[in-house]
Amino acid sequence: MENDCHIGAINRVEIHDHVLIASRVYISDHSHGETRLEDLRISPHDRPVVSKGPVVIESHVWLGEGVCVMPGVRIGHHSVVGANAVVTRDVPPYSVAAGCPARIVKSFSAEGGADDRQDLGKTP
Ligand SMILES: CC(C)(COP(=O)(O)OP(=O)(O)OC[C@H]1O[C@@H](n2cnc3c(N)ncnc32)[C@H](O)[C@@H]1OP(=O)(O)O)[C@@H](O)C(=O)NCCC(=O)NCCS
Repeated sequence: MENDCHIGAINRVEIHDHVLIASRVYISDHSHGETRLEDLRISPHDRPVVSKGPVVIESHVWLGEGVCVMPGVRIGHHSVVGANAVVTRDVPPYSVAAGCPARIVKSFSAEGGADDRQDLGKTP
């Protein structure tokens, strides 16, 4: 793990073996209140802290510089998350995710060679 990382847990944050975390990575399993009107009327400090669910970073994941991992997200093993991505949804194993919000830009099968590669989100 590099410098200036922030991991906040009120529920559970799991980081499995052989995970590489670059600088300025933020991982959280919680928020200051829900994003609903009743909560917005309360000062953020006074809102109840809530967790959508644990965060799980499976083995052999690389989180690039400045990645944010949001509550309730599971990042599948052997995946890469590109610099400055905000991960709001699960990332399947053997995937490359990038962007804000993060989208899968490449995905491989576990057995895969180059022929199994699918570049997603592109027009054919
Ligand atoms: C994701 C990453 C690993 C590149 O992987 P790659 O397989 O070479 O991906 P490509 O460069 O072929 O890009 C694939 C697509 O994702 C996009 N993309 C790549 N990295 C991106 C990023 N960080 N944010 C947004 N989009 C990104 C590319 O623009 C491309 O989109 P396009 O097909 O529409 O042009 C790299 O861009 C990255 O972010 N590395 C992290 C570097 C870092 O943080 N280092 C710290 C040292 S530990």
